Formats: sequence, C-alpha cells, structure tokens
Amino acid sequence: QRKPIIAIDGPAGVGKSTVTRLVALELGLTYLDTGAMYRALTWLVLQKGIPLDDEGAIAELVSDLHLELIPSVFPEQPMTIKINGEDVTEAIRTPEVTKNVSVISAQRYVRQGMLSQQHQYGKIGGIIVEGRDIGTKVFPDAELKIFLTASVQERAKRRSKDLIAQGQTNIELLQLEQDIGRRDYLDSHRAISPLLKAPDAIAIDTDGLTIHQVTEKIVQLYRERI
Ligand code: C5P
Repeated sequence: QRKPIIAIDGPAGVGKSTVTRLVALELGLTYLDTGAMYRALTWLVLQKGIPLDDEGAIAELVSDLHLELIPSVFPEQPMTIKINGEDVTEAIRTPEVTKNVSVISAQRYVRQGMLSQQHQYGKIGGIIVEGRDIGTKVFPDAELKIFLTASVQERAKRRSKDLIAQGQTNIELLQLEQDIGRRDYLDSHRAISPLLKAPDAIAIDTDGLTIHQVTEKIVQLYRERI
C-alpha cells in the first residue's frame, strides 16, 4: 500500500512552488514540481529549434526523453532538473521558456508521456505534487487536494518581487499581469487536462495571506485527515 499523496494545483504565480516545498519540509514528504517537467521539455524543443506546433517531432522527442528530478538536500530549494543528461535547473526559468510552455504542455503526446512518468513517482507515495492537473488527472485518489488561487494583480506583484530579488530591473507590472493572464487562459482552456479545481479539492484564496500562513493551513489539514 502506498503512502499518502498531497496534490497542489493552481494558476501561474500563485506561490505553489514555495508552499509545496515548505509543506514537504514540515511533513517530511518528497516534493515533485510537475511544471518543471513541462518546462524542461520546452527548453529542449527551443534548443533544438523544433517548431512549437510540430507535434509529431515533439512526440518523438518525448518518446525518447530522459528526465531526472532530484529533490534538493535543502527542501526549501528547487529541485535539480536534468533532461537527457543536461542540468537545466536554471535554464527552465527564463521568460522564453515561460512564454512558450503552455503551447507545448497542451499537446496530447506530451501529456501522455509526462503522466506516465508522474505515475512512477506516485507509486510509493509520501509525496506532495504541484501542478495544474494533479488532483483531477494525475492523482485523482490523492488523500489531500488543495487548489490555490489569488488575483492576477496579486500574482503579478509577487512575481515582480521575485524578479527584483533575482536582480532584474525594468519590470512592467502591467506586462506581467498580461503574461500571467495569457498563461491562465491557455492552461484553463486546453482540451486535455485543463487547469481545474477537482470537486473534492479545498480552495485556499491566498490574497492577503503570507506564504507561511498558507503553509500552516495545508499542514493543519493534512494532520486532521491523515
Ligand atoms: O508551474 P509552472 O509555472 O512551472 O508550470 C509551467 C507550465 O507547465 C504551466 O503554465 C502549464 O502550461 C504546464 N503545466 C501543466 N500541467 C502541470 C504542471 C504544469 O500543463 N501539471
């Protein structure tokens, strides 16, 4: 019998990654960032110069993909991602990857390939998994499902703080809002596994809550139920 699974879903920039890692740290779970898997593939497609709409060529790439996801020894840090042996942990966070990932993640063979990998990680359990379709599609039998939300304005503000912390200047808040809105739209309106709250997921509106308050809520829910 497998150990429990927590599913964390929600739109871009809602704070999923940080919250997921903090909950993992507190509860002693392994974390899995499924967005990083789609980002790594997008990076490879761009690097190889494959047109984004060449679903056949991308499907072929997916069929022969070697993805490694290695949780950091410091769970508050992002996991290391390697694709076909290359460390892309930082490369997958560029605006170019971010801009193009939703087009690739909407493709049928891409989702099939990622799903079977994600199921491998879920076999033993004891994990907290973040993404868009974890509670609805990847692990519909997860013991605890959380759906995080926040207004686009709030998410753009948080993103801009992150970018400033990374040393970026000239950040246009309005542009960030538009980018986030566009990605939300694409992720929520695709035909296969769109971003959607599972009926049995618990929604947490994070507007006005700190990362630590959100983390504590999830930890508390887990302890109540499991
Ligand atoms: O969470 P993150 O911003 O890293 O996700 C990047 C993109 O990967 C999302 O915008 C979405 O298109 C895709 N994704 C997905 N299904 C998941 C996780 C991410 O389609 N479970």
